Amino acid sequence: MNEERLVSAEQHIDDQAIDAALRPKKLDDFVGQERVREQLSLVLHSALRRGRTPDHVLLSGGPGLGKTTLAMIIAAELGRPLRITSGPAIERAGDLAAVLSTLSEGEVLFLDEIHRMARPAEEMLYLAMEDFRVDVVVGKGPGATAIPLDIAPFTLVGATTRAGMLPGPLRDRFGFTAHMDFYEPGELEVIVRRSAGLLGVRIDDEAAAEVAFRSRGTPRIANRLLRRVRDYAEVRADGLVTRDLARAALDLYEVDAQGLDRLDRAVLRALLVKFGGGPVGLSTLAVSVGEESETVEVVAEPFLVRRGLLARTARGRVATPAAWAHLGLTPPPGVVPPFPSAAPGTGTLFDAGGEGD
Ligand SMILES: Nc1ncnc2c1ncn2[C@@H]1O[C@H](COP(=O)(O)OP(=O)(O)O)[C@@H](O)[C@H]1O
Ligand SMILES: [Mg+2]
Repeated sequence: MNEERLVSAEQHIDDQAIDAALRPKKLDDFVGQERVREQLSLVLHSALRRGRTPDHVLLSGGPGLGKTTLAMIIAAELGRPLRITSGPAIERAGDLAAVLSTLSEGEVLFLDEIHRMARPAEEMLYLAMEDFRVDVVVGKGPGATAIPLDIAPFTLVGATTRAGMLPGPLRDRFGFTAHMDFYEPGELEVIVRRSAGLLGVRIDDEAAAEVAFRSRGTPRIANRLLRRVRDYAEVRADGLVTRDLARAALDLYEVDAQGLDRLDRAVLRALLVKFGGGPVGLSTLAVSVGEESETVEVVAEPFLVRRGLLARTARGRVATPAAWAHLGLTPPPGVVPPFPSAAPGTGTLFDAGGEGD
């Protein structure tokens, strides 16, 4: 037990170190997200030309899509230092004041999970973003006074997996918002081959395509699966990753042919078996698989929607006919899906934004 925990902790550290090693350092090395890259490049280079700090940048998108990587690239492209903090680390306005007041001119401040920042800090941030000023409150109650303090002009890069949770006034203060979407298999293939090169993994093109296809549209997962496939090839074969070998390894790690992992399948199975295909509310669905609502909503759902297996409707989550087929189940008689059929990728058509509960 102890040993198992040690191993997984080590694995985690190893994963993080490799994550860092595989991070592209320049915008040109950042694969995919064509539009985001081009827009961002314009924002950065026009600011450089004018000798000004660029507008604040908001990066929104699911876990592992490259938000932290882009934040680091932004600082590198600007030739400025990067300060990293996160929403949960800022519990009080004072925590934020401490960071802001020690920024150097032009520094890039990366605020990860910005939607989880404490409310009072948020208000301090508005002023800082707009006027490069903070009001430090001294004293309490009626005698409290706010002392304005100038801070160095900086560029805020905020990242969030849940742009919808950001208050309007905060969202409005970003001059540029990049929405990061799932990557196409072809883009992930490029990432897999690039990472294989950096890690010295021998992998043939068909195998790279297989790993890419099963990576849930997510670079971090592509890199992780590549390492698991490499492990398998080293122990069970001569180290060369072929397609058959990749398939065997991915099956072993419970990543199915569509790239669904255990959580994806658990959510889908619950939706089908326990709730007859829905509609069911997000929180009910999450409880039934023993997960936080946020995890189901941010991690599992977007991919299931993307794959055309699940739809979000005004009445709740609904399985598509493809979901029944994917798990090899027959819909009970009388269960008529509320729409004709959903081709993969059209799930968002049914996204009514709300849910039943
Ligand atoms: N566009 C990309 N091109 C190449 N590798 C990428 C790209 N985006 C992400 N990665 C890889 O995926 C990993 C996870 O990216 P990260 O920026 O940490 O995601 P996020 O912060 O959105 O969770 C990084 O280690 C990086 O190597
Ligand atoms: Mg990150």
